[in-house]
Amino acid sequence: EEVNADGLYVLPGAIDSHVHFRDPGYPHKETWKSGSAAAACGGVTTVFDMPNTSPPTGTVEALQMKLKAAESSYVDFGIHALFGDDTVDHLEALLEAGATSFKAFVGNTFGNLPAPTDGCLLEGFEKLAPLGIRTTVHAENSSIMARRTSHLKDSGRTDPLAHLAARPAVAEIEAIGRVLTLAEWTGARVHIAHHSAADSLYVLRDAKRRGVDVTVETCPQYMLLNTGDMLRLGGVLRVNPPVREARHNQPLWDAMMEGVIDMIATDHAPHAPEEKTRPNIWECDCGFPGVETQMPLMLTEINRGRATIMDYVRWSAEAPAKAWGLWGVKGIVAPGAHADIAIVDMDRRGVLSENRLRSISRISPWHGRTVQGYPLHTIVRGRFVMRDGELVENAAGWGKSVKGVQRMPEPKVRHADTFVKAITDPEAAAREAAAAAEE
Ligand code: DOR
Ligand code: ZN
Ligand code: ZN
Repeated sequence: EEVNADGLYVLPGAIDSHVHFRDPGYPHKETWKSGSAAAACGGVTTVFDMPNTSPPTGTVEALQMKLKAAESSYVDFGIHALFGDDTVDHLEALLEAGATSFKAFVGNTFGNLPAPTDGCLLEGFEKLAPLGIRTTVHAENSSIMARRTSHLKDSGRTDPLAHLAARPAVAEIEAIGRVLTLAEWTGARVHIAHHSAADSLYVLRDAKRRGVDVTVETCPQYMLLNTGDMLRLGGVLRVNPPVREARHNQPLWDAMMEGVIDMIATDHAPHAPEEKTRPNIWECDCGFPGVETQMPLMLTEINRGRATIMDYVRWSAEAPAKAWGLWGVKGIVAPGAHADIAIVDMDRRGVLSENRLRSISRISPWHGRTVQGYPLHTIVRGRFVMRDGELVENAAGWGKSVKGVQRMPEPKVRHADTFVKAITDPEAAAREAAAAAEE
């Protein structure tokens, strides 16, 4: 098949390591077919799906159900399985059954999955560290947020900013600090999801300098929207973590340029329009679709000179490929790599519209926003899944799990080796202690 790319840019397809395709469990919000069609139309060639489906992706059976549903995918995919107190004893079984990675809901959110206890985080990290498998963390402190939420509800607050008040930036700072402490101790690889606050960047910068293997994503909503938009949009923009005050926007850009934030993801979190537009903010579901609007939004900022197209490729493709063990195979246009390609028109202008979304959730805080820069063609492993701006309908099912090509780099195990010995080989630990006492 040929395509005229005169005047267009050929980019590696975006890798969005944070989507909620809701399948199985919530077909009125999204399915694998609709969500992956949205990805294809957004220039996204690989997605990683989150485990807060129904059933949650925390058992081998649930994982098999998800893999079955994903057979209809237009794009390649990884599966983040659930990391929690109920799953920590069978993480290896989940990996064997096809999980690529894990997600820990340290902050409460849609699906109401219980936050892993700190003991569970430590134990799971100890297990995953030698395997080199990365765990994504939704890092907000649930106890701070539960207390704040009940206080605000009791005092009768139902306005949009009450959502922000319930989830202050300090909840994010605290959870990130705690997770990084455990990651550093164990040598586990972690990934901070949807980083939203300027105030917690120093914690990440410090950890990276010390050599903690932490990768960080932010999303277009945190870079481009703020509480002003929350007042305007209310429940439509309700998302966890919340979009924050305007002072947070530019520092996130600066952190992307600096490399403290590694990548762009979307937290594509579709809900039905009626679930997003209730008058009481507490009754509006959190999240909104994003997988098909990320590229036009970001290319628009590139056109405005806020970063270069090479910066964008690093954030959208190279960094996620490296984080998830796909580097060399995906995230790069090069000999030997999969032909996962987004061909973009940097000049094309348009207005983002809910009516044109492929997602079943046709509601978006980006509705009405003027953009310049669109993906026109999307190619997954050499096959068009979007052509001339149109979904290639019969490419449904072309998407494959990346499990077959995922190769996590060798882990660097840190303090955990000595710590674990006291559990796994108590006799050896006792011999060492006795020898030390004699010296
Ligand atoms: O706003 C959100 N929605 N944040 C999350 O962390 C989860 C997501 C969802 O699944 O709806
Ligand atoms: Zn999350
Ligand atoms: Zn999410």
